[in-house]
Amino acid sequence: MRMNFWAILGGQHGDEGKAKVVSFALQTWGNVCCRFNGSSNAGHTVWVGNNKFVTHIAPVGLIFPEKVRVNLIGALCFVDPIQLKKECLELEGLTGASTRGRLFVMKQTHLTLPIHRQLDTGENAKKIGTTGSGVGPTAMTKGARVGVTAEMMYGFGIRELSEHLQESVAPRLNIPKKGLHTGLTEFMDAMEWMKKNVTLVDADFFSNPPNEVSRRMNGEAWNVVVEGAQGFLLDPVHGDYPYVTSTGCTTPYIYPSLGLSPKEKIKVTLVVKAYHTRVGEGPLPTEINDEALSDKYREIGNEFGATTGRKRRIGWLNTRQLMEAVRVNGADEICLTRVDTIGQFDTVEALIGPNGGRTAIYQPWGRKVDGLRGDLKSLNGEIPTELFQFVRDIQQEVGCPITMLSTGPDCDDIVYLEKGLTRPFRLETRPA
Ligand code: IMP
Repeated sequence: MRMNFWAILGGQHGDEGKAKVVSFALQTWGNVCCRFNGSSNAGHTVWVGNNKFVTHIAPVGLIFPEKVRVNLIGALCFVDPIQLKKECLELEGLTGASTRGRLFVMKQTHLTLPIHRQLDTGENAKKIGTTGSGVGPTAMTKGARVGVTAEMMYGFGIRELSEHLQESVAPRLNIPKKGLHTGLTEFMDAMEWMKKNVTLVDADFFSNPPNEVSRRMNGEAWNVVVEGAQGFLLDPVHGDYPYVTSTGCTTPYIYPSLGLSPKEKIKVTLVVKAYHTRVGEGPLPTEINDEALSDKYREIGNEFGATTGRKRRIGWLNTRQLMEAVRVNGADEICLTRVDTIGQFDTVEALIGPNGGRTAIYQPWGRKVDGLRGDLKSLNGEIPTELFQFVRDIQQEVGCPITMLSTGPDCDDIVYLEKGLTRPFRLETRPA
C-alpha cells in the first residue's frame, strides 16, 4: 500500500500555530493523523468556521471524522487516560462522531498517572515553569524502568496498579507512599473507557496494519499527517536544557515513535511564527523588554497559553536559531504564521544573520494580508512589498524555502508560495 508522510513540526518554543497547519493539511490532503510526541502539555487550537476546538493529547484528526479515517498516538507520547477521555468525549459532543474505531494507541506508550501530576507541582517544576501535566515525572518513571505502559494497563485492575505503585514506583523514585493512591478511582474509570474505545496496536502498525485499519482505509493510499507538539527549542537534546520538555520534538523521534524505518521519507514542514513566543522560564535572546509593546502583542495576538492560560513572553524572530531548527529537522519548507498579527505593529523587527546577527527593521504591512486565501493564483501581485522583504530576508538567511504564509486563524487563511516567493503554488499537486 502506498504511504506518504508529511510532518508538521514547531520551529521555536511551541505555540507557532501548528494545529492550524495540521488541520489544513488534513482537510486538503491527509486521511491519517498521528501524534509522535508530547502529552497533555500541548495545546492545539483549531478554528473550523465559528467553532473552536482545543486538543491536548487527542490527535487533531479526530476533529474531521469525515476526512480522517485513522488517528494514532505514537509510542514516544505520554497519555493521561483521564485527559484523553475528557477530550474525546468533548470532541464527540462537538462533531457528533464516536471515537471508537478511529483512535489507536501504541502498546508501548507510557501512561501518566495521578501521582505524576501531583509530582509536577514541586520546586523543580516551578523553576522550569512546566505545564503541570505530569510529563517530567512520567519520563522519570519510564527512565527508571518502573513506568506503566498502555499494554500493561489494559491487563491491570486497581489492585495490580496499587501494588505496582507501592512496590516498584515509590521505592525506585524515592517518593512517599502518601498520595500514591489519590485519584486512582477516576483513573480506573478512564481506563475502562479507554479499553472500550481505544484500540492498542503494535509498532508494525504501518508495515502490517491490523485488518480493521486496512478495512477503514478501503484500499486508498495512506496520506499520513504527523502532528508535532511543542517546538525545536523545547526538545530535550537541542533545546535550552534544562528549560525543555521531556519528549523529543524533532524529526528523528518520529521514526521510533511510529515504528517506521529510518529510511522512510518524510516531508517536513517547519512552522515558524513571524515573531517569537515562549511560556515558562528559560532563555529568549530576542525578548522584547518594552512591557507595553509585549502587552500589545499579547492582546492582539491573544498570546496566552492554550493549556495553562499563562502570559506568553514575546520576542523577535531569530534566523540564527531557525537555521539550527531547519538543519536538525531536515526541514523541506517553512510555513510562516501570524504575518497578519505582526504586520499591524509600527515596529517589525527580526534578528537576521549569523554570529549574533543584526537587528533588521521592516515597514509594517498593516492588515493588507487579510483576505488572501489558499487559492492564490493572483498572489504575486498582491503580496505587500514590506512583507515580501521580510519573507525574502528570512528565507535567504535560513536557507529554506518559505512556501506558506498563514494570515489568520481559519484553516483557509493560508497562502501557498512555490519555491519561496516566485510563483503561486497549485494546491492539488502537493506534496509529491
Ligand atoms: P512540561 O512539558 O509541562 O514539562 O514543561 C516544560 C517546558 O515546556 C515549560 O517551559 C513549558 O511551558 C513548555 N511547554 C510544554 N508544552 C508546551 C507547548 O505545547 N507549548 C509551549 N510550551 C510548552
